[in-house]
Amino acid sequence: MVRNILFVCTGNTCRSPMAAALLRQLLNERGGKLERIRVSSAGLYAHPGAPASPEAVETMRGYGVDLANHLARELAREELAAADLILTMTNAQKNQILKIYPEVKDRTYVLREYISKDRPAGPDQWDVPDPFGQPLAVYQQCAADLEKDLRVLIDMLASAVKGGDADQGKGGEKMRIALGADHAGFHLKEEIAKYLRDKGYEYKDFGVFSTEAVDYPDQAAIVAKAVARKEFDQGILICGTGIGVSISANKIKGVRAALCHDVFSAQMARAHNDCNILALGARVIGPGLALSIVEAYLTGEFAGGRHQQRVEKIMRLEDE
Ligand code: RB5
Repeated sequence: MVRNILFVCTGNTCRSPMAAALLRQLLNERGGKLERIRVSSAGLYAHPGAPASPEAVETMRGYGVDLANHLARELAREELAAADLILTMTNAQKNQILKIYPEVKDRTYVLREYISKDRPAGPDQWDVPDPFGQPLAVYQQCAADLEKDLRVLIDMLASAVKGGDADQGKGGEKMRIALGADHAGFHLKEEIAKYLRDKGYEYKDFGVFSTEAVDYPDQAAIVAKAVARKEFDQGILICGTGIGVSISANKIKGVRAALCHDVFSAQMARAHNDCNILALGARVIGPGLALSIVEAYLTGEFAGGRHQQRVEKIMRLEDE
């Protein structure tokens, strides 16, 4: 399921902030799981801190959305890494992103390309023209067109949520899990693998496959990098204390690993911190508690709202 949508345009003062604000509003109107989707925007050539253009602010006011506090952001690698779906306003912007960041190819589309996937349309029909420097009426038309597109997008997101529920049953959307351990975590990893199999989760076991001594940063890096590349939705890492794998995994950009030895922390790690790796210490807790923690963690959901900006601030620390 898509959890984090990033709109990209040129200056991040007109089209992408309007699209992000409109989508945010429409998602909130729909409510439920859709409300938890994170939406942000950035510009390929933005002047960081520049305000939205006055016409964009005025246009959005007509939708009951306040863009007055918007500050332009320049597109950064970590934002791309965190996004499940990257939507540009034009084909040229998409090509520009892919030239610099080819690794996001599978999740980068022109907005109108994405929503018209099954329909015959070419790149020449995908562009949302730039209203910059044009009269207010052009901005208003641009917003009206975007709203139409975003309503199609929301229907697509809504049916993906429904499909996900059916796939996984009780716990929510279909989740891909990367599993790894050092020698001290090997036995607990086997128990967790069995639990994941029994529950029907899709997972990959990255080892180790014996109690022969290895260095935990190596195992942590394999799982954390796979999660950061979005090949998996979540990772589970186990070492003796859980400390070594959690420290190591948190060195990888885009990873938020939480060491949890109680069920409440596991729930909060998802709800408040939107973590993508659970770390466990096999020498600290027994398998019964470990499996309860795994269950609480995997069935948890990010609460969004005020926690969203906090998680975004964590991600920005990665570049300081
Ligand atoms: C291995 O003996 C142990 O140091 C490792 O599994 C882990 O606890 C490190 O944090």
